[in-house]
Amino acid sequence: MPQENMPQDNDLSRRDLIKAAGAVTAMTAAPFIQKVKAANDQVQYGIIGTGSRGSYLLKHLKEIDAGHCVALCDIRPTALAHGVETIGNNPATYSDYHELLNRKDLDAVFVITPLFTHYRITRDVLLSGRHVFCEKCLVFKPDEVHGLRALAQEHPKQILQTGLQRRYSGFYQTVKDMVDKGILGNVHHIHAQWHRNMINKPSSLWTMKPGGESNIENWRVYRSMSGGLTAELTSHQVDVADWMFGSQPDFVMGLGSLDTLKDGRDVWDNIQLIYRYPNGQKLTYSSISTNQFLPYFNGSRPEMGEVIMGTDGTIEITVGDDVHPAIAWWYREPPKTATVQPAAGKKEDHFVAGATMVASGGGAVGPIPLLTSEVNMTGNEGFFDKEVKFAKRWLYSKGVMVQEEPVNPVDTELKTFFQNCRDGQRPRADLEVGMNDAVAVILSNLAMDDGRKVYFNEIDKMGLGEKPARKTL
Ligand SMILES: NC(=O)c1ccc[n+]([C@@H]2O[C@H](COP(=O)([O-])OP(=O)(O)OC[C@H]3O[C@@H](n4cnc5c(N)ncnc54)[C@H](O)[C@@H]3O)[C@@H](O)[C@H]2O)c1
Repeated sequence: MPQENMPQDNDLSRRDLIKAAGAVTAMTAAPFIQKVKAANDQVQYGIIGTGSRGSYLLKHLKEIDAGHCVALCDIRPTALAHGVETIGNNPATYSDYHELLNRKDLDAVFVITPLFTHYRITRDVLLSGRHVFCEKCLVFKPDEVHGLRALAQEHPKQILQTGLQRRYSGFYQTVKDMVDKGILGNVHHIHAQWHRNMINKPSSLWTMKPGGESNIENWRVYRSMSGGLTAELTSHQVDVADWMFGSQPDFVMGLGSLDTLKDGRDVWDNIQLIYRYPNGQKLTYSSISTNQFLPYFNGSRPEMGEVIMGTDGTIEITVGDDVHPAIAWWYREPPKTATVQPAAGKKEDHFVAGATMVASGGGAVGPIPLLTSEVNMTGNEGFFDKEVKFAKRWLYSKGVMVQEEPVNPVDTELKTFFQNCRDGQRPRADLEVGMNDAVAVILSNLAMDDGRKVYFNEIDKMGLGEKPARKTL
């Protein structure tokens, strides 16, 4: 943290605010308490698609005893073998997902296949009577939006969760709470970015492999199978904006182009989007493939994050990954000033509302890290624990240490999926959340393709009467 942003010891307002940050977090970020389940209480699940994301989830699922993996399916033998090795409990294996669904012992199925297959497989899982966790985006085409909505309504007792893990992050939940409680004032603008340098640091997922469009490993880079950057990256962040603003956008406009990764792919390699929400709020969005700099957190993190800007404060937040957990910084705006009508012949005067809160003189100050509940005082600490918590809080407040979310939200999304399969509670990332997200992706790509403003209610009339028919494998 730059020296000028360091809080002063006598900066009472800052300490109050840090306390507030911790208190807000404590309300929403209580750690998930995992009960060891008896074997017969475990959710028996299968996974369709054991590629990159499937293997990642299997690595996490392996540590979660609320579920038990009984079967895996992938059309690629190498991916299937890798999945079996990752979960390590010798599940049954299939190359045809219909055969997996014919098993009698499954409670739930994960769909972790390429986007263009999501609707068809999720539909078949629902029809087979199982709960379903489908990775984002839930659907690919407008006809599938209508098809899956109708089908889910016919199966209300089955859990349908989308893989939007930010919804399961204690930090993001805290920020949503701060927005709802007005702590940031009126939030009019969000900016989000996901920038990658695919020139200097190619990503194996986005690198063209031999075989072009006929090689399923290239699904991400062809429009026949993928929604490109919008589906793979923007989807997470437009969901954050929907959540914070509490609604879907009214319309979207944008510009996409393919300028550097000209290897035969037909998805854009850079996109810029503007979403307008009711009440004029906006999400401005950027995803590029030639640079990974992230101008938040003093440049200490690359690639992705969101800035949530209100009249009274700003949040910088990112979800991170297994190596770099979520962090969130809070900045205050200068306090409100009210103009007093000058008496005749006198100069205009200003006063500061709530001046007692602001010992530092009223200017914008440096970041305040959001804190998780582990550093809150419960009153039951022994002398040593208390000292450690005080020390940690002091180091966080000085910016010497950054408080990070102690739980990967991916673990939380998986654990709560199993919990919801048992208790029937609606998932946080349910059908509507997933569907709004998928619609935003479809319409954003349309806005860039057509070079026009696309209204979100256009989806109501799109794809009607069409049979969801697409490329099959
Ligand atoms: N939530 C997240 O942060 C996150 C991150 C990465 C990927 N994803 C999503 O996960 C999904 C999969 O992405 P990925 O990176 O794992 O892709 P991938 O290509 O690495 O893996 C997909 C796997 O599905 C298999 N497959 C394709 N069609 C199949 C079928 N009909 N039956 C069985 N298996 C089939 C492929 O052989 C492949 O192994 C995508 O929807 C992607 O958007 C989500």
